Amino acid sequence: MHRLQVRAGEAGATDRLNFNLILGIESSCDEMAAAVVRCGTEILSSVVQGQVELHEPYGGVVPELASRDHVRSVSAVVEAALVQAGVGSHELSAIAVTAGPGLIGSLLVGLSFGKALAYRLGVPMVGVHHLIGHLASAELADCSLRAPYLGLLTSGGHTALFRVEADAPPRLLGKTRDDAVGEAFDKVAKLLGLGFPGGPALSLAAQSGDSAAVRFPRPMVDRVGCDFSFSGLKTAVALEVERRTEHGALAASDVADIAASFEAAAIDVLVSRARRALREEGIGRLSVVGGVAANRRLRAEMANAAAADGFEVSFPPPALCTDNAAMIAAAGSRLLARGDRHGLDLNSFSRGSGPL
Ligand code: KG4
Ligand code: ZN
Repeated sequence: MHRLQVRAGEAGATDRLNFNLILGIESSCDEMAAAVVRCGTEILSSVVQGQVELHEPYGGVVPELASRDHVRSVSAVVEAALVQAGVGSHELSAIAVTAGPGLIGSLLVGLSFGKALAYRLGVPMVGVHHLIGHLASAELADCSLRAPYLGLLTSGGHTALFRVEADAPPRLLGKTRDDAVGEAFDKVAKLLGLGFPGGPALSLAAQSGDSAAVRFPRPMVDRVGCDFSFSGLKTAVALEVERRTEHGALAASDVADIAASFEAAAIDVLVSRARRALREEGIGRLSVVGGVAANRRLRAEMANAAAADGFEVSFPPPALCTDNAAMIAAAGSRLLARGDRHGLDLNSFSRGSGPL
């Protein structure tokens, strides 16, 4: 009935009605996730199945184990997302699935499932770039957020700054030249024997430490531009651990102090690079997305900087910061609305932009 009210030329409105219920699928690393999102903005369900127990004994994600587990869980996770949303598969209007970048075997599971389901249901499918998905979590979480704004992406695989405009794809302003910030958290957590997954464990240990105990370097903070670097910081932590373990194991207070000092340095870098980028781009709005955006200290320090410099900052809730499929459905909804579709020949890709 509503569709009859859409006048010719209102392609956007027609598309929004056509793509009312989108199933998102995300499997780029060690999480299998599915979600149903209405009209690109309303999360009806979001199911994330992690694999912590599987990878814990190895201290990091083992790609082959991740993809095999995804094969076992993909049907049940998608089914759970549909049930939680109260939506039958026949009611879906489209499927959005992460095509890359990420672990190729893991990606293939979600992408193959998405293709097969789209074919069976006879609905369009669109492949989504994982980073564009993370950026979409900003507006999904905060519908009052208006472009232009800067998106600071802080994940395990990437650290980058994007300029987001209303009617154009996000523009990359700068990215890390070596490690991603989440990767640095994970590697330092491993050095300190804090287990897996490293980021949350490190930030927990840091709470009882003294962040001024060691003055670690803040790479790139004085450089112009928007690039990042975290490998020098990680090496400085490794040297400090080596120095303190010369005569025996680290005491719990050493672990807490090094964790807190590392966290302070990594966050200083993120905050100062974001401040500089906002100044250089002449923009007063920032959204921080990706797994590390769940970090409490980062949220507090960025809020302090926002108050001091007079910019607005928003963070999605932690469940939308770490990998999830609602952000993939939201990003997919925009791509579908502008006419993007992919066929069954779409391939997954591990790096860069692939075919997207
Ligand atoms: O976005 P995400 O879930 O996956 C990728 O696309 O990489 O990010 C995962 C990263 C991991 O490196 C993890 O250690 C980090 O986010 N992370 C955190 C916190 N929660 C997750 N890092 C610091 N503090 C946290 N609370
Ligand atoms: Zn991610």
